[in-house]
Amino acid sequence: MPEPAATISGAAFHPGWLDAAGQAALVGDLRAVIAAAPLFAPLTPWGKPMSVRMTSAGRYGWYSDRRGYRYVDRHPAGTPWPPIPERVLAIWRSLVSLDRMPDCCLVNFYGDGARMGLHQDRDEADFGWPVLSVSLGDDARFRIGGTERGGKTESVWLRSGDVLILGGAARLAYHGIDRVVPGTSALLPRGGRVNLTLRVVD
Ligand code: SIN
Ligand code: FE2
Repeated sequence: MPEPAATISGAAFHPGWLDAAGQAALVGDLRAVIAAAPLFAPLTPWGKPMSVRMTSAGRYGWYSDRRGYRYVDRHPAGTPWPPIPERVLAIWRSLVSLDRMPDCCLVNFYGDGARMGLHQDRDEADFGWPVLSVSLGDDARFRIGGTERGGKTESVWLRSGDVLILGGAARLAYHGIDRVVPGTSALLPRGGRVNLTLRVVD
């Protein structure tokens, strides 16, 4: 597997993994995913809508409401999630594994003012598999710490085309998005940021 250019709190950072053409092709794939499974704002377990809008592709989609965080096999409209685009799986094959494909590609859309508080990704059955993240569109300030809430954190700018892998000791690291800077990328005609995270669920 290719060596990362840098490690941030144990996460493998591959800046510029996708070139401009690769990013544009991926946006085309995601338009089809969102047409089949429209973005929605999940409710937190406390009943507040998240500022990030989401949908998923794959056997499972990530979901949240008053009953808590979990994976579900259908979009809230009742339809199955569309398949994970081949181009997305190719990134996983290059950087994670040829043997096991992810079950879920969570698609997060950050419009004006959207952010994501510090959290752990821990709704999956096997933390031996990493979570691979792909950033598209506007620049975002990503924050990452250790496995204890309230510990020391550091931040890195994630730009369009960057890949970050939370694996090994960083698999359960607290992480979040402080802010997205409008107008920093021309990839999405109406602006904003898309983040994909690939997860092995069960
Ligand atoms: C996430 O933690 O689910 C998203 C991280 C990101 O938007 O970069
Ligand atoms: Fe996360």
